[in-house]
Amino acid sequence: MKHTKINAPASLAIESSCIIEGDAYVVLAHLPDQCVQTVVTSPPYWGLRDYDLPGQIGLEEALPQYLNRLVAIFAEVKRVLRDDGTLWLNVGDGYTSGNRGWRAPDKKNSARAMEVRPDTPEGLKPKDLLGIPWRLALRLQDDGWYLRSDIIWHKPNAMPESVKDRPTRAHEYIFLFSKRERYYYDQNAILEVNGRNKRSVWSVNTLPLVLPHAATFPPALIRPCILASTRSGDYVLDPFFGSGTVGLVCEETGRNYLGIELHAEYVKLAAERLGALMTHVVKVA
Ligand SMILES: C[S@@+](CC[C@H](N)C(=O)[O-])C[C@H]1O[C@@H](n2cnc3c(N)ncnc32)[C@H](O)[C@@H]1O
Repeated sequence: MKHTKINAPASLAIESSCIIEGDAYVVLAHLPDQCVQTVVTSPPYWGLRDYDLPGQIGLEEALPQYLNRLVAIFAEVKRVLRDDGTLWLNVGDGYTSGNRGWRAPDKKNSARAMEVRPDTPEGLKPKDLLGIPWRLALRLQDDGWYLRSDIIWHKPNAMPESVKDRPTRAHEYIFLFSKRERYYYDQNAILEVNGRNKRSVWSVNTLPLVLPHAATFPPALIRPCILASTRSGDYVLDPFFGSGTVGLVCEETGRNYLGIELHAEYVKLAAERLGALMTHVVKVA
């Protein structure tokens, strides 16, 4: 593994695929304008997991703070995105805690054992669905992004829930945004088997955890995003790289990747998944 450490405010020259260890907002500020063709990412969900790391996203006390932080990060993402580029954004939802302040330690998944759950957001009631994906999508639309599609990721193997007063959740959203009205999109690269234009409901099984937290992308979920939005050799950015699934699909499809990840352990794990000898890790201090 090749390691480089740079101190702010040095600017990063992008010459090959690499993983950049640091906070997404800070690292993005050091990337040149228009250096990536597409962005495929899934930020941490709000109030769901404590990765036990200062600076992590998702532990903001109030929902508006979480949304503001993501809108600011995606404004930087827009700057580093080519003018004809796109953003594929998966973000999870949740329910208000129903005034339950504490979540018991979870022995099987330490990251799930948060000390305190956030309060019920202002204007919402106990048991309300938060509606985070659409709240974020509309905020990004207000911020200038073109909201082009809401894709339903249907999970045929979704976990059962012990609820009796609503349907079991078996889907998440992926939003397709563009920076401009016209953008690069190769519909032929992802036609359905019957030759039709790809539909907006994608059935993809979730996979067993790679990291000690859930929400690892199944490669089959993000392959169409990358194939439709990039040509061979283009750069794909994931500012919340986690275990590096975007990098794996880039390697498989002949694209380059830039992965940003705050958690040093996850950077190590992603580098191992991607072939440690080949991986270039840059640390932004
Ligand atoms: C939902 S996971 C991404 C999983 C990834 N899609 C995969 O396939 O493994 C979100 C990731 O964001 C990282 N993260 C949290 N706060 C961050 C921040 N401020 N800057 C960069 N990464 C952050 C977490 O450590 C976690 O790995």
